[in-house]
Amino acid sequence: MTRIASKLPEVGTTIFTQISALAQAHEALNLGQGFPDFDGPDYLRERMSYYVDAGYNQYPPMAGIGPLREQIALKVERCYQRRLDTDREITVVPGATEALFCAIMCSINRGDEVIIFDPAYDSYEPAIRLAGGIARRIPLASPDFSIDWSRVHDAVNANTRMLVLNSPHNPTGAVLSAEDISQLKSLVSQYDILLLADEVYEHLIYDGETHHSLLLHDQLYQRAFVVSSFGKTYHVTGWKTGYCVAPPALTAEFRKVHQFVTFVGVTPIQWALADFMAEYPDYASKLAGFYQAKRDRFCQAMTQSRFRFRPCRGSYFQLMDYAAISDRGDMAMAQWLTMDIKVAAIPISVFYEQPPKQRYLRFCFAKDDDTLLEAAARLANL
Ligand SMILES: Cc1ncc(COP(=O)(O)O)c(C=O)c1O
Repeated sequence: MTRIASKLPEVGTTIFTQISALAQAHEALNLGQGFPDFDGPDYLRERMSYYVDAGYNQYPPMAGIGPLREQIALKVERCYQRRLDTDREITVVPGATEALFCAIMCSINRGDEVIIFDPAYDSYEPAIRLAGGIARRIPLASPDFSIDWSRVHDAVNANTRMLVLNSPHNPTGAVLSAEDISQLKSLVSQYDILLLADEVYEHLIYDGETHHSLLLHDQLYQRAFVVSSFGKTYHVTGWKTGYCVAPPALTAEFRKVHQFVTFVGVTPIQWALADFMAEYPDYASKLAGFYQAKRDRFCQAMTQSRFRFRPCRGSYFQLMDYAAISDRGDMAMAQWLTMDIKVAAIPISVFYEQPPKQRYLRFCFAKDDDTLLEAAARLANL
């Protein structure tokens, strides 16, 4: 039989798929994979059905339908005071994952280095390697998963082409600070590097903190791809729709790849989102309160347990340190929790090149309150 030389030999099925399958097989509460167990807004789903029935079922324009790009522009102006050119700076994509892939593919050449921070969302490194690039992984610093800028300066060299940022951060819930933005500005004033900002959790930020989007800073935006996901904002992760905002020259390169990866996103979804955003422009501004209440409910209930944690600052993930409960490795611990305790969680070592010493599991709190309380009750018995 003919074989191919794998380009990603050590990559298997993602941990999210594995744990979700295990959770299903063992009827565990799934606080593993990052998706809500509640539905998106009624009006959004109604508009989706409407457009399917009304025959909006053929290819949309490659960059996304005009009305949705218009709504994205309005939202960016409202949230980040930046006026975008809807034709030349916004591309609608079938999922943030595709945007991350296209941004990397269009800008990384063989031998280029890309700085990413450990723990890192799992799609970054494979995309870098498929582009022929080299991922330089820098661990986030304990205990708050902040960026150690001196290590970034040490890592940058003549081959460094891009730096990938993710704020709010999956899996740690860390967020970029004003000081990080100053450091970033200083870095890009010294080195000619591109920025890829994964901001899919842009609206999920708590305790009155603000999201430091790269869109707020001209010096940063001029060299950035900024990626967001409607799946996260409107509780419809299965719709796989997001967008990439970048200055015209970068958008032009981005689209050269996008048009040959998926060409377009799904038509009726785009129309439904455009209608929803026009009708409920403030929806996203209520998300932080909604998810903060869930975080607090879960964390409050977990104070009864032997897990140790600091409430996360953003995203819908909460890390829990289980060192007081078990000395198992995190993979074994996640499997045991899923199969025996019937609560699924994600081991965070899979997000690292060098797994950390701390024993953390990631719990997703985008779940109904009853599910969160039941999960916490089971975990409190350990
Ligand atoms: C940090 C991060 N980036 C990107 C994505 C992908 O988003 P999408 O489902 O829109 O492709 C996710 C999804 O979990 C994520 O957590």
